[in-house]
Amino acid sequence: MYQPSPTWGNHVPICKHSGLDVKTYRYYDKNTCGFDEKGALEDIAKIPERSIILLHACAHNPTGVDPKPEQWKKISEVVKKRNLLVFFDMAYQGFASGDIDRDADAVRMFIKEGHKIVLAQSFAKNMGLYGERVGAFTVVCDSKDEADRVMSQLKILIRPMISNPPVHGARIAHLILSTPELRKQWLADVKGMADRIITMRKQLKENLAKEGSKKNWEHITDQIGMFCFTGMTPEQVAKLTKDYSVYLTKDGRISVAGITSKSVGYLAHAMHQVTKARVSFDGAQSGFGGGVKSIVSRSAAAAIIWGGRSTPRRFMGATSCDARRIIGLGRRLHRGSVAEPDGTS
Ligand SMILES: Cc1ncc(COP(=O)(O)O)c(C=O)c1O
Repeated sequence: MYQPSPTWGNHVPICKHSGLDVKTYRYYDKNTCGFDEKGALEDIAKIPERSIILLHACAHNPTGVDPKPEQWKKISEVVKKRNLLVFFDMAYQGFASGDIDRDADAVRMFIKEGHKIVLAQSFAKNMGLYGERVGAFTVVCDSKDEADRVMSQLKILIRPMISNPPVHGARIAHLILSTPELRKQWLADVKGMADRIITMRKQLKENLAKEGSKKNWEHITDQIGMFCFTGMTPEQVAKLTKDYSVYLTKDGRISVAGITSKSVGYLAHAMHQVTKARVSFDGAQSGFGGGVKSIVSRSAAAAIIWGGRSTPRRFMGATSCDARRIIGLGRRLHRGSVAEPDGTS
């Protein structure tokens, strides 16, 4: 299986544990903090025929970088030439544009172009059902007969793997999707979340400019979805954590959904301070690691979250009591008295 580099940290072990030989194709261009079109197309063109290719359907995690529609077309063409099986992972439908249909464009285009895709969809984030384990698995088949055979194989695989899936979250998702008023409300909520994230991106960029940063932060607003790959180095990230109590993954990824109008100014200030000059890594961060992904401000008023694990709905409603509790957790993490989360969300 060929995965984008980088990809969600859990893709590699999940696929390896499934017995697949995991390899990568170029995806992210560090110089532009954008999509590496040339690198991706070159690498995909060399993938051995009949391999599996993993594509993030929208709002790529961790980079926040998605191909544009014309780039998706090119990917589709080269994938078809190599006769690859496309595995779409769609964990953030609605987070990129605020519109679940627009965010499904790439998947629908691939199906229209004749690809027999496999699609893993999650409702963990866009329905705020993280702990309920709810999603959908879709395999596009040629005929009813093929679909029946695929279904029977899936049942054979699932039974010894999980026996039975939890049903509570699935019932909630089904109710929302099949009740017109609830569906309408959900679509408005998804748009509200996406718009708030877009606003936070703009405010972060503006505040960095106000701080006097001369760095190019265009990618903050060019990237989409919940995550922003800031381009900060591991040293800068370490300093941000040590000196400003701002927590993010070592690769420089922040959860934009975790930024609030109250914390954005502090975050911009801290980011400017650590990026305006090269910082040296003093190795004193051993209590921290790439696993911590919250943005924790010293300000008690700031809403604080565990990046990938919380839904924007939860942070939007975070009370100052939540903030104090989580700041406390952040401090205990700092002292090393509690364990970090696994860092794969
Ligand atoms: C790209 C990607 N796929 C899948 C998941 C996990 O989805 P679920 O929680 O439904 O297993 C995540 C994050 O949690 C993700 O970022």
